[in-house]
Parts: sequence; structure tokens; C-alpha cells
Amino acid sequence: MSKKNVFIETYGCQMNVYDTELVKSILQKAEYKIVDQESTADIVMLNTCSVRDNANRKIYNRVHEIKKAKDGKVSIGVLGCMATNFKTNLLENKRLGIDFIAGPDSYKHLPNLISTVTETGIKAFDVTLSEFETYSDIDPVRDAGVNAWIAIMRGCNNFCTFCVVPYTRGRERSREPKNIIEEVKRLVKNGYKQVTLLGQNVNSYQHEKYDFTDLMKMVSDVEGIERIRYTSPHPKDFPRKLLSLMSERNNICNQVHMPLQAGNDRILDIMNRTYTQREFLDLIKEARDIMPNVNISTDIILGFPTETAQEFEDTVKVVQEVEFDQAYIFKYSERPNTRASKKYADDVPEKEKTRRIVLLNEIQHDIALRKNQSHIGQIEKILIAETSTKRSADYYQGRNDGNTVVIVPKSDAYTKGDLIDVKIHGATKNALQADVV
Ligand code: 5AD
Ligand code: SF4
Repeated sequence: MSKKNVFIETYGCQMNVYDTELVKSILQKAEYKIVDQESTADIVMLNTCSVRDNANRKIYNRVHEIKKAKDGKVSIGVLGCMATNFKTNLLENKRLGIDFIAGPDSYKHLPNLISTVTETGIKAFDVTLSEFETYSDIDPVRDAGVNAWIAIMRGCNNFCTFCVVPYTRGRERSREPKNIIEEVKRLVKNGYKQVTLLGQNVNSYQHEKYDFTDLMKMVSDVEGIERIRYTSPHPKDFPRKLLSLMSERNNICNQVHMPLQAGNDRILDIMNRTYTQREFLDLIKEARDIMPNVNISTDIILGFPTETAQEFEDTVKVVQEVEFDQAYIFKYSERPNTRASKKYADDVPEKEKTRRIVLLNEIQHDIALRKNQSHIGQIEKILIAETSTKRSADYYQGRNDGNTVVIVPKSDAYTKGDLIDVKIHGATKNALQADVV
């Protein structure tokens, strides 16, 4: 029998990108062929995200679109964070068009789920969450590139009241350091220059006596690894010793993503973030004392239930005071099961949320532009990643140590995956322009 072709479409965060790479590996071992076009696929999987979007409708539409394009001759699976959500719908409504469902801890069962569907026509699902599954025995099938994602822990125990992740991805569990280090070594051997360690909350990493800083030290010691990044930490227990390690090690990038979420103490409290504005500001100060030029990015939610215009001003104040290099700003979106959804009505009017997001983005764009302009004239090292998506095919784009996008003209002297010195001569709010020195 010829191998069945599988196409996977990925939505959402980097953890999902990584999970798709795990799924590809699991399926290839089970004699499926991964294809990069929907048109040649016998099976299409959508690896979904439910963190912010009300994406249910989007996924339904995609399912119908795919069924139509393939004249019904396709099996469709839903993976990822929307899996649990969709299971109930699948059982209630047989006409949905979805054939099988696998939650984030069930990917090893995919070959079984698929054969159930293709051999018996019976719809199949597994959305059980595990306290142990870390997929440490699976070697992801990565696209050839310069950066490799590595999940070092999965799940989250924090229960921020707005967040659906603890429900969709389950409890925290960490991979064994030895196993992670072996993966990093393999990646170096295969030509990857950069690894990004992933976790819903990386500083909760704990495996026996090893914590996140210990793990970073071990990864940094791997010979040949040029750049190490990680995301995302939580400000409540960000380890100070990690800041010292970052400043000492050349191969740990000069970048911290520090999710603020809100600048007002009452809102932080009802979000269950367990830090205050003062504690957040002190942490930023400490980071900058130890690494004066550290690139700091953040996530912000505005319009959390009951947030007044006055309380939102505290978030504005923190943004102005900290001057983040990048900020990802979101309107609060009510998520099923979360404590916030049970306790509060989503009571900040849409119009007011829009006013706040427009205002905060304007402020942040000015800051980002100013911060990027301060790079002009400097010599910086960039890792070339790909042909520029922003400028034109005559340019490459890469990232500097702090993770800002840098655009350079193409030349025969260097190519993707090279680390080169460039001189910055221009800046926008999103990127730097440079020439090779
Ligand atoms: N509404 C809006 N933004 C959210 N995020 C998580 N949950 C929600 C929600 N319900 C944002 C947070 C988080 C980022 C990944 O997504 O800012 O840090
Ligand atoms: Fe969600 Fe908070 Fe866990 Fe991040 S730390 S995944 S925001 S619950």
C-alpha cells in the first residue's frame, strides 16, 4: 500500500510550531509521508491555538474549505489547544467535517487515531492530558534553518485568571537536562547556530536538582552553539542568578521577554500575576543594571474585566517608564473555563478597548522607533535567517543579539546561517537597516 500523504497547518505560538515538528516525526516513523501542499494530501491536520482568538469559526471555515477543495476525499484532524473544545462539538455534531482530534499530550496516539478513521470510518479522539508526557524520546523533524525550537517544559501551573493554557495544556512537567543537552549537541552537528528554549513558563523548569539557570549554563557550555534564547519567563520568580549568567556568557543572547500584562496593582492581583507594579519595575532595573543594553520585550493585556480608564493609565505609565524594545499588546478576550470568565463579565466596551490599544500602540511605536534609532552607527553581529520579507528579494534579514530584525543587501560573501558584522545606518519601529562592514 502506498504511503498516505499528510499536510499540517500550524496556528499560534512557537510551542505549536515545535509540536508540529514532533507530530511530523511521529507520523514519519509510522510510515506517513509529510507533504507541504494541501492539494496532494490524503490527511490534513490543523494544529490550533485558543489563547486569544475566538478561532472556532475560523477553524470550521477552514475545515469546510479543505473538504470542498478536495471533494470530500480527505480526512481532517484537529490538534493543539482547541482539541478539548472541539471534542464535545464532534460528539454532538457528526456533520462537522472533523474526523479525528488529538490534544497536546496525545500526539503519540495519532497513528492509531488516523487508522481508526481511515479503516473504520469511525471518528476518533484523544484529548487526555498527561502529567508526564514531554516527548523527550521524539526527535522533531525541523525545517532546515538557523534557529531550532526546543521545548524544555510543557504545561503551566500558574492559573493567571485570563489564561486558558493551564486547561488546554495541563500541568507543568520538565524534560531531563541530559536529554535536552543531547538534542542541542545534535543540532550543532546539523548546522544550527541558534536554539530557543521554550516553555509556557520557563523559569518553572525543574528537573530533580536542576533549575532553569542550571539548564541554561549546561546549554551554554555546549561547544559550537552560537546563540541561545528562551521564552517566556514569568516576572514573579525570575531568577536573579540567570541575569548574572546571561551577562557572563557570550552565547546567551542579550534579550529578555518579560510579560507585564498590566501596570495596575489591583488588576495584577485579580489577574493572579502575584507581583506588583513596583516589583516589576525593580526587576527591570536590576536586569538593566546587570546588562545595560538588554533588549526587553513584553506582553500586555488591556480591558481586563473591571479595568477602569484610570487603572489603564498605570499600564501606560509603566510602558513609558520602562521603554520596552517591543510590546505585544492584546485586548482582553474571554476564554472558556478560566477563572476570569467565571467571575467577571467581559465588561470593558469594545470601543474603549480599541481606544486603549490604539493609544498604547502609538506610544509604544514612538518608543520602539527611538530605541531602534539609537542603534544607528553601531557595529552589530547578525545571524542571517532568510530573504527579506519586508524589503525585497535583494535583501536578507537576520536578527541582532537583542532579537531586533536587521536588513542587509544580499552578496556572495555571505549566506543564510552566517553570523556577520554589520553597521547600522537606518531604523524604523520594526527593523534596522545595515551594510556589511
Ligand atoms: N486575552 C488576551 N490576551 C491573552 N493572552 C493570554 N490570554 C489572553 C486572553 N484571554 C496574552 C498574554 C500572554 C500572551 C501569550 O497572550 O499577554 O502573555
Ligand atoms: Fe497563561 Fe499565566 Fe501560565 Fe503564561 S504563566 S501560560 S499567561 S497561566
